[in-house]
Amino acid sequence: MMSDRKLLVVFGATGIQGGSVAQTILRDPVASGEFKIRAVTRDPSKSAAVSLAQQGAEVVQADLQDKYSLRLALQNAYAVFVITNFWEILDPEAETTQGMNIADVAKELEVKHFIWSSLPYVSRITNNKLTGVVHFDSKARVDDYIHELAIPYTIITVGTYTSFFLEMLTPLPTTPPSYGLFFPEPGSVHTTVPIIDPTADLGKFVKGILLNPEKSLGRSFNIAGRSYAVEEVIAVAKGLDVDIVYHTVDKASFKAGIASKGLPEVVQEDMSQLVQYTQEYGYFGGASLEEGHEVSQSVGRDLDCDALSLFDYPLLDIANDCLSLASTGSLDDSRRIIQEQCSLFITAEGLATYWNVSMLNATPKIFTFMLVFYWLLSSRCMGIPIIENTIGNGPRIYICL
Ligand SMILES: NC(=O)c1ccc[n+]([C@@H]2O[C@H](COP(=O)([O-])OP(=O)(O)OC[C@H]3O[C@@H](n4cnc5c(N)ncnc54)[C@H](OP(=O)(O)O)[C@@H]3O)[C@@H](O)[C@H]2O)c1
Repeated sequence: MMSDRKLLVVFGATGIQGGSVAQTILRDPVASGEFKIRAVTRDPSKSAAVSLAQQGAEVVQADLQDKYSLRLALQNAYAVFVITNFWEILDPEAETTQGMNIADVAKELEVKHFIWSSLPYVSRITNNKLTGVVHFDSKARVDDYIHELAIPYTIITVGTYTSFFLEMLTPLPTTPPSYGLFFPEPGSVHTTVPIIDPTADLGKFVKGILLNPEKSLGRSFNIAGRSYAVEEVIAVAKGLDVDIVYHTVDKASFKAGIASKGLPEVVQEDMSQLVQYTQEYGYFGGASLEEGHEVSQSVGRDLDCDALSLFDYPLLDIANDCLSLASTGSLDDSRRIIQEQCSLFITAEGLATYWNVSMLNATPKIFTFMLVFYWLLSSRCMGIPIIENTIGNGPRIYICL
């Protein structure tokens, strides 16, 4: 009976992870027969939220920083999926507080299944050798709090997004175009990384968790499509005519590269220690991916995770064109290419405010590439023609088909 459906509250429903969860459940005949969706956003008027409402989700306004709003959002909830966005606040303490806020309210309202999107506890795994991967530890501290509260939980520890590698590319001054992938010592092409295409696949894992509470409650799962060596990623890209050259650089140069994207010292250190951690301990600290796959497989055969499928997308070619042109051309040229080839209209305000202007002038190629790439991610995620997104700590951009 549709009216007896359990209520799943989804945080981050207008973004990548929560969007994948909401869309997967809404589109799946079995899961949508069992669960109805309440999508949480701070701004119900945004297009992603409007689209969710049109697809049958209830959309409510709440903020992880405001416990009062969380109490309203969790009224009558059976389950909740929670993601926090470090990249918006760049403050590990604040991110932990957000996670603890929602865990407190879930306890208070006796939510039956609290699904928390986390990352490995790097400082604990490394015995405090690496304490700088703050956006991992900030989430993992919430894992401890969830255990302390003794709420019914499942923790998913999420692998690296496919997009990470694309975001790390630096255009090189070559003809034909090629890209550098610069990682700090002791990084190596042989390092393996668990990769997930979160838009396509994260919701499938969470669906498996929700439909198998007897197998998932009280457990933590590492989730990703599979582990790839960096050299495999490069080979896949090469097969698509994207030429990537791997370089190991010293830590200071790597940090300078991150700084050139406008990111602060805490993030520069975080990223360099993350590479070191992955190289020395393994992204999941040596643990496997199998259990997460098993639980999700048991509800169907749709867990066909190809994390690198995102690479095989026509827009990558367009991004490539923009990048090669931008090495000599201007931002306007890049914008013209996007408009001509993608039939996109990008508001001037969006362009001007995407990054600060000096950053834009310095790196139009990276800017354009990221712009196209995030458009790609968002449109896949929401399946809608008008997309808005917030990237890092930046303001919103609007891209209309
Ligand atoms: N990149 C990777 O490889 C990777 C891998 C694993 C994990 N992660 C983690 O993934 C997280 C980001 O998730 P995502 O990729 O799904 O982000 P995203 O696409 O940027 O979306 C962020 C979502 O969080 C919501 N949100 C942010 N602050 C909120 C608040 N105070 N209250 C309520 N909702 C809030 C936003 O909702 P509204 O704006 O609509 O309110 C939005 O839906 C980061 O913390 C990152 O560390 C990233």
